[in-house]
Amino acid sequence: MDLLVALDIGTSSVRSIAYDLQGQAQAAFAKEIGLSFPEPRYVEQDPAEILSAALEVLRLLENELKKMPARAISIGITNQRETVIAFDSESGKACYNAISWQDGRGLDLCSDLIDQGLSPLIRQKTGLELNPYFSATKMTWLTKNGYLASARRPKLVTVDAFIAWHLMGANPAIEPVTDPSNASRTLLYNLDSLAFDEELTEIFGIDFKHLPNLVNTAEIALAIAPGMPFSGVTIGSIIGDQQSSLFGQGMITPMSTKVTHGTGTFAVANVGQKRISPKTEVLESIAWKIGDQSPTYCLEGSIFTSGVVMRWLRDSLGLISNYSEIDTMASSVQSSDGVVVIPAFQGLGAPYWRTDARGAIFGISTATTPAHIIRASIEGVVMRTQEVIEAMERASGSKVETLSTDGGLSTSNFVCQLQADQTRIPTVRAKASEATAFGAALLAGISQEVIDLPQVAEITRSTSTFNPSPSAYSAKARRENWNKYIAKIL
Ligand code: G3P
Repeated sequence: MDLLVALDIGTSSVRSIAYDLQGQAQAAFAKEIGLSFPEPRYVEQDPAEILSAALEVLRLLENELKKMPARAISIGITNQRETVIAFDSESGKACYNAISWQDGRGLDLCSDLIDQGLSPLIRQKTGLELNPYFSATKMTWLTKNGYLASARRPKLVTVDAFIAWHLMGANPAIEPVTDPSNASRTLLYNLDSLAFDEELTEIFGIDFKHLPNLVNTAEIALAIAPGMPFSGVTIGSIIGDQQSSLFGQGMITPMSTKVTHGTGTFAVANVGQKRISPKTEVLESIAWKIGDQSPTYCLEGSIFTSGVVMRWLRDSLGLISNYSEIDTMASSVQSSDGVVVIPAFQGLGAPYWRTDARGAIFGISTATTPAHIIRASIEGVVMRTQEVIEAMERASGSKVETLSTDGGLSTSNFVCQLQADQTRIPTVRAKASEATAFGAALLAGISQEVIDLPQVAEITRSTSTFNPSPSAYSAKARRENWNKYIAKIL
């Protein structure tokens, strides 16, 4: 049996999954990884921990596959995006912790650049907002603070490039590589020339030669080195996790749209092979670039906090002891009784882009119970989802017809039904529970020419649909209440 392997390096965990060519998962392993918060706005991870988790889950998978009449024919890497690792490509050692996508230390630099009037230029070239979420200001911080000084061959890369380089044998003669879906999240990649842009590196004070080389998302023939798990197998794809789940949910035609509820919530719409160039609110990135074909572009509405809220309900407030209680608690009350939770723990992403915003709970009374707070927290994530979908519709001038949904919260029927009721768009639960990993595996199959796009559409088709309730009354009332309160934190 031929298998496609996915390595999914997320923010909270690293996973390896092997799929057969019909899309069935045959074996899977996962390992949690930590986050640290050394100062307000700082969010970091340990690059050595990320690497060792990646190697461990791959080794476990490799050993498992040895027990089967199976062979891995290619590996797809997908990863948390924007997170930056500075490392020495001579010694392989990281120069500092990984600076997470959630990290806001670049806020002041972004404000300075906005004051210099650079937003329109940067928007036009990169499709992104001047916001510390993206990689560039993290790279500036590492450069300015001298963290590259001790490295003989310093590199500033995203997580995909760091892991792929190690899998290729940590060889100083090999340049680290990244793909356009990841590069287009750095604020340094030009969506028209399809290359890193020298003017942008100058604006951010980053040395161009510290950046990785570019390869296509699929059609990569990087061989895994001896001594590494799956040695000799090729890396067939590299893709940022949100774009990967777009692919893994079969959203391969223009305006097909998905939403992933993970650590954050990310709504992404495939917009085809031409740029739409929205001026505000939503982002534009490369979804993927398959071989020499033109790239596929996507629009994205990023919501920084969603799964994080559920973790907060469990670990900080102790209102639930495990995630399976969310559904029962939320549906044990008829409504949130006017309570509104705004999940802006790390500021607000699309369409507001306010890093300085903070979360809030409004409308509590003596009648408020934990169930109301839990329900209002879920509603908060869904209200934010509605806001970003509306912004994407404004940007594209097209209606979103169905909303394919994956990620932790999508396993909840309550969440899927509420999302359909609130957005008034049918929610389709993705067929693959791990659509992010699945997308990278399918793209590895495309690069090996063992799978084609019509097969991707077939394999990913889901029949699990949640239709909006006939009456829009509650959705309208919730939205009015939400609008009143979100205005207070802006
Ligand atoms: O942009 C950040 C995103 O890539 C993180 O994804 O799955 O780790 O929440 P995840």
